[in-house]
Amino acid sequence: MKVPFLDLSAHHKAMREQLDAAIRDVIDNSAFAGGPYVAAFEREFAQYCGASFAIGVGNGTDALWLSLLALGIGSGDEVITVLGTFMATAEAISFCSARPKFVDIDERTYTMDPNRLEAAITPKTKAIIPVHLFGQCADMDPILEIAARHGIPVVEDACQAHGALYKGRKAGSMGVAGCFSFYPGKNLGAFGEAGGIVTNDERLAEKIRVLRDHGQHRKYYHSQIGWNARMDGIQGAVLSVKLKRLDVSNVQRQSHALLYDQLLGGTEQIITPFEAPQGRHVYHVYAVRVQNRNQVLQSMADKGIGCAIHYPIPVHLQEAYRFLGLGKGSFPVAEICAEEFLSLPMFPELSNAQIHAVADELKMCISGRKPLSNCVK
Ligand SMILES: Cc1ncc(COP(=O)(O)O)c(C=O)c1O
Repeated sequence: MKVPFLDLSAHHKAMREQLDAAIRDVIDNSAFAGGPYVAAFEREFAQYCGASFAIGVGNGTDALWLSLLALGIGSGDEVITVLGTFMATAEAISFCSARPKFVDIDERTYTMDPNRLEAAITPKTKAIIPVHLFGQCADMDPILEIAARHGIPVVEDACQAHGALYKGRKAGSMGVAGCFSFYPGKNLGAFGEAGGIVTNDERLAEKIRVLRDHGQHRKYYHSQIGWNARMDGIQGAVLSVKLKRLDVSNVQRQSHALLYDQLLGGTEQIITPFEAPQGRHVYHVYAVRVQNRNQVLQSMADKGIGCAIHYPIPVHLQEAYRFLGLGKGSFPVAEICAEEFLSLPMFPELSNAQIHAVADELKMCISGRKPLSNCVK
């Protein structure tokens, strides 16, 4: 049985009429850049996240970058983030002319290890960005406590965690700002590039609104140098339709994850994801760990099963960050995970038969291999 890694057409099928109508409305009203459809989505998304304000922007990288700029991060500053992330988190820091400082991940949750955070703080630290990787919230209470003790703002990278919960609080609503990507493949995905920031801080929200729109507080009155990071009207309209299905889709993802857990959990050569009891994981990515990962990926592809790697090289070992001088061995947990992570097909419309086929194939690929140990510390 062939199983795609992601099937967006299947996901859009059930909403097709509403999506077509929403796009038609935007065309009929010529509301293409910003405008009422974006404003409506901003209200709905803020409410969904339990935050006072939401600001729609061009993509998740803009969301992170503008949040940091609005907090006044600049040259000479350090921003702490975690190595379990996509390049964009570090790029946003660098694009403010600040320096990223990395903390290793916790080996079970793959999110920022709070026990390693305080040692990374220096007098130059001006923000901390935990990342809710794969759809699971970082352990926010100790992170927020350490940050508050040092007077450092926390910006959540919730780009992979739409609707995830931590002790009953929504991803994105716990720090001074929460940043989201609405890239098409995300749990809440647009029909192109889009992103958003949620915050309870009215002044921060206003600063970000001005920054995303060429620094103008009134048309053609520019109080500062900003950028064009506005969200398209079509993306706002599409996201409003898709937001209504987000919770249902997340529940479907959770039930697929449970079935994968049941089918793969007892296999010594596979480490299945750990879901921390205090939260609700929304499984943007269902990543297992296996040895000889690249070989397994190829064997799965040969059988028509689409898997992916998130991410093959941790950010500190990317060529772009060579200047930081952080060699192999600096962050052992992130490095071993990067070698072993294998993301299995995961999307709401996946069928149980497809999940069984993926699990059977994966078990065939790894049979006869050495057991994996869950400890690199
Ligand atoms: C953790 C994380 N941060 C930031 C981003 C950047 O979002 P975008 O691609 O919308 O710019 C992504 C996107 O994949 C992400 O996964």
